[in-house]
Amino acid sequence: MIEKEFIPKSYSNSIESGSFTWSSPSNIALVKYWGKKEHQIPENPSISFTLDNCKTTTTLSFSKKENSDSFSFEVFLDGEKKDDFKPKIETFFKRVEAYLPFLKDYHFKIETSNTFPHSSGIASSASGMSALALCLMSIDKSLGEHISQENFIQKASFLARLGSGSACRSLEGDLVVWGKHNKIDGSSDVFGVKYPYEVHQNFKNYQDTILLVDKGEKQVSSTVGHNLMHGHPFAKERFKQANKNLSDMISILKDGDLDKFIALVESEALTLHAMMMTSMPYFILMKPNTLEIINKIWAYRQSSGSKVCFTLDAGANVHVLYPENEAFQVLEFIKNELVAFCQKGQYINDKIGFGAKLL
Ligand code: PMV
Repeated sequence: MIEKEFIPKSYSNSIESGSFTWSSPSNIALVKYWGKKEHQIPENPSISFTLDNCKTTTTLSFSKKENSDSFSFEVFLDGEKKDDFKPKIETFFKRVEAYLPFLKDYHFKIETSNTFPHSSGIASSASGMSALALCLMSIDKSLGEHISQENFIQKASFLARLGSGSACRSLEGDLVVWGKHNKIDGSSDVFGVKYPYEVHQNFKNYQDTILLVDKGEKQVSSTVGHNLMHGHPFAKERFKQANKNLSDMISILKDGDLDKFIALVESEALTLHAMMMTSMPYFILMKPNTLEIINKIWAYRQSSGSKVCFTLDAGANVHVLYPENEAFQVLEFIKNELVAFCQKGQYINDKIGFGAKLL
């Protein structure tokens, strides 16, 4: 499906007011997206685990307004008005208006809450933008847009991408690919798709414990970070490498080869940060405790033969990934050796999840 096909033909129903509630999860990339072209088109394909516990629930209430001159909306986080969220949503509305022509006809109340602590350093943009996109899609559908379930999710993913790139991987479980890859059927630059091939039992219910190392505001927004890949001395090689890593991931996922999985996932995490450290201007998002944790994980793996590994987002927090059958031992290790490096000892236990839900 191409962009133009997401423009509704015409709406057959007229609705005065209503509301929809969706809950949508966060996701953690195994092969990372870092660098984009115009219109949120990724420079390389990526793949992520959909999470289960870290999610955003959004209720979108809408009521018809007198005129259709401009966007009209208010935003609440945990019941509190959040005017500082408005510019990002206004930009999102402008980008998606052509695909949701009703946007200026209604006044919207957006009420949102996250299961993870606000400003925990866990990005809420993926879960937040996908939840909002889904609520808007429910309106689109109830206005009479004839759309199959598959196209509903595709268009929601497409819209979420225009809010925040990685958000397009948050709609479905349990592994999602975004970005055209010549070995993955149906993969697309414009929306995320459920990973279509065989996944070994080893990856069922894969665990992710998120260690909250630094809850401060990000020093660099991801928009700025992505833009620094333009003219980056290693960009071309990086995009090639991500393509190859995704090819390799296909056989790793099929065979359940955890050693190869660990090597690929950790290398991807460090490469993401290496890109940041070698851009101009350069920056470091890891903190001393991020490195302490990485070294502890390596030492534990060496001594125990565990298949635990780590990955990182664009921040200092560490995602500790491990198979379900090691959950007990790894959690003991985390409590005994890693929690000391978390801010206020905070961490979140999560695992692979099954995607967004209409509530
Ligand atoms: O979705 P954005 O624009 O915030 O970019 C996020 C990119 C990473 O989280 C660092 C990597 C990824 O693929 O999710």
